[in-house]
Amino acid sequence: MDALPPQGRAAAALERLMARGAAFLGSRHAIMGGAMSWVSERHLVSALSNAGAFGVIACGAMDPPRLAEEIAATQALTGRPFGVNLITMHPQLEALVQVCLDAGVGHIVFAGGIPPGAAIRKAKEGGAKVVCFAPALALARKLVRSGADALVIEGSEAGGHIGPVSLNVLAQEILPTMAREVPVFVAGGIGRGEAILSYLEMGAAGVQLGTRFVCASECIAHPRFKQAFLRAAARDAVPTVQLDERFPVIPVRALQNQGTRRFIEHQAAVIRRFQAGELTKEAAQLEIEHFWAGSLRRAVIEGDVEQGSLMAGQSVGMVTREQPAAEIIAELIGQAVAALAAREAG
Ligand SMILES: Cc1cc2nc3c(=O)[nH]c(=O)nc-3n(C[C@H](O)[C@H](O)[C@H](O)COP(=O)(O)O)c2cc1C
Repeated sequence: MDALPPQGRAAAALERLMARGAAFLGSRHAIMGGAMSWVSERHLVSALSNAGAFGVIACGAMDPPRLAEEIAATQALTGRPFGVNLITMHPQLEALVQVCLDAGVGHIVFAGGIPPGAAIRKAKEGGAKVVCFAPALALARKLVRSGADALVIEGSEAGGHIGPVSLNVLAQEILPTMAREVPVFVAGGIGRGEAILSYLEMGAAGVQLGTRFVCASECIAHPRFKQAFLRAAARDAVPTVQLDERFPVIPVRALQNQGTRRFIEHQAAVIRRFQAGELTKEAAQLEIEHFWAGSLRRAVIEGDVEQGSLMAGQSVGMVTREQPAAEIIAELIGQAVAALAAREAG
C-alpha cells in the first residue's frame, strides 16, 4: 500500500468508496449521467459510458419503436453499459420495459412517480436491475419492498422536475438507513468532485449529475441552450412560480427567461377568467398546465432560449465551458482524488 505515491493511494481510496456503486452499474466510476429529456440521447449517453461513467437514455414521451431505435443507436456507439429512464405515467410503460429487455438493457430507471408493481416485476423477471427515485424515507422503504434494486435521491437543487427537499437534508434522512439495504445514488446540485467524495463518505454508492453534462461537446443540445448554461449563475436556476394554491403547478427548476415571466402573467390571466366565471376550475387548471407543453424541446433542439424551458440545476454556475464528456469525468474524479490526497498530506 505504502509503495503507492499519495496520489495513487488517494485514487485507490476513491475507487474503494465507489466500488459498490460501480459494481452495481457495471461502470468504472459510480457516476450516473441523469437522464434529461431531449438531451440524453445516443451521443451524450454513449460518450458518458465510454468515459467510464454510466449514461442513461431519457425515454420521455418516445413510443416503443422510437425507444428501440435509440437504444440500438446507442449500442452502436458504445459497448459499455448504459441505462434507460422511463417516466411512470407513460401510457405504454410495460411495452417500453419490454423494449429495454429485448435490447438487453441492464438497468431501468423509473422516474416521475412511484412505478406500478407490474412494471417493476416485468423488468426484474426479464433480468434488468430496477432503479427508482425515492423522495422520502417512507417511500424509499416501500420501493425497496416492491423490488427496487437501487435508489436515487434527488434534492431540490436539481434541474428539471423537483421535490421540495434539498439533497443536504434527504441524504441525512435516507442514507443512514437505506444505504445498508441497497445502493443509493445522490443527485441535485453536484458540480465538483469534492462534493462527490463527501456524499460517498456519508454512505452513498454513487452520484447522479445532469446539469454538469449539458455542455459536454458530444451533447446535441442547441448551441444557444449551451450558451445559456455557460452564462448562468446558481441563482438564475429557480423553481416555477405558483400564483394561487387552488391551481397547483408542477415545480420545475429552470433558468429564468421570457417564458418563466410569461407563465406568471398566463396564470394571472387564467385565474381572472376563472374568477369571472368564464372557465371551470378544471379548464383553468388544464390551461395552466398546457403552457409548458413542448417547451423543453423548443429550447434544447430549436434553441428558443427565450420562450422555451431552460431546465437547469443550481450547479449551472459550475458549468464554465464546453468540453468533452471524458474531460468532465476526469475533472470530477481528479477533484475528489486531490481532496483525499490533500488530507493525507495535511
Ligand atoms: C434539462 C433537464 C432535463 C431533465 N429531464 C429529466 C427526465 O426526463 N427524467 C428524469 O428522471 N430526470 C430528468 N432530469 C433530472 C436529471 O436526470 C438529474 O437527476 C438532475 O439533473 C440532477 O441534478 P443536477 O442537474 O443538479 O445535476 C432533467 C434535468 C435537466 C437539467
